[in-house]
Amino acid sequence: MRKPKHIAIIMDGNGRWAQKRMLPRTAGHKAGAKSIKEIIKVCIHHEINTLTLFAFGRENWQRPEAEVSFLMQLYVTTLEDNLDALLEQNIRLRFIGDLQGLSFEMQTLMSKAERLSSTNTGLNLNIAINYSGRWDITQACKKIANAVKQGCIDGDEVDETLFNHYTALSDLPAPDLFIRTSGEHRISNFMLWQLSYTEMYFVEECWPDFSATSLEQALVAYAKRERRFGAVREHDYA
Ligand code: FPP
Repeated sequence: MRKPKHIAIIMDGNGRWAQKRMLPRTAGHKAGAKSIKEIIKVCIHHEINTLTLFAFGRENWQRPEAEVSFLMQLYVTTLEDNLDALLEQNIRLRFIGDLQGLSFEMQTLMSKAERLSSTNTGLNLNIAINYSGRWDITQACKKIANAVKQGCIDGDEVDETLFNHYTALSDLPAPDLFIRTSGEHRISNFMLWQLSYTEMYFVEECWPDFSATSLEQALVAYAKRERRFGAVREHDYA
């Protein structure tokens, strides 16, 4: 079965999952954190190279302050509690987004996790936090403009390969499979540059219900997709 090298997920619907059960939205986020563990296990089992999870978008600051602080605390405790296990599983962790906008505690923890896992060779696990696809494109533009100003590169040299080099996760393959849960059919400012030829997969389940079986089904659906990258199938010429 053809497998994706890189899976990118928008883990949507935690709040609705909780509300349906008459629970506070925060209970949905806690349940969502549990789903992540199961999904990581499946990725390791299938030897998937890279998993990128959208944990917090730049636009998510507009949520009530109490929910934002709960989420930030949940990221800290989840990372603290699971770091050893992640390292034991040979996982390499990376955080993408405007990390300077996060608390000092989070920044310290994130750089510790990146440093301790930097030589791991198993699953690349990327967490997008205070992230936006437009932010990534803009920060790449800024770096390129500075490199041109300093005479390190010539403006005419800027092509897609060079531009890509300045975007987040440029050393990893672009996502092959994008999954969004909870019945929403949007990209919501996630990996705009990198998703240009990614296969899109949407499910009705809210993130806390997205199980190992759900991911297995997504992998089967992906294997059936025909990827042409703008070209035509060979037998269409016949
Ligand atoms: C979307 O559901 C989810 C989020 C904004 C946060 C994602 C966070 C987790 C899955 C928890 C733990 C994550 C890590 C990395 C430890 P929503 O709140 O938008 O739900 P709704 O659309 O039903 O309101």
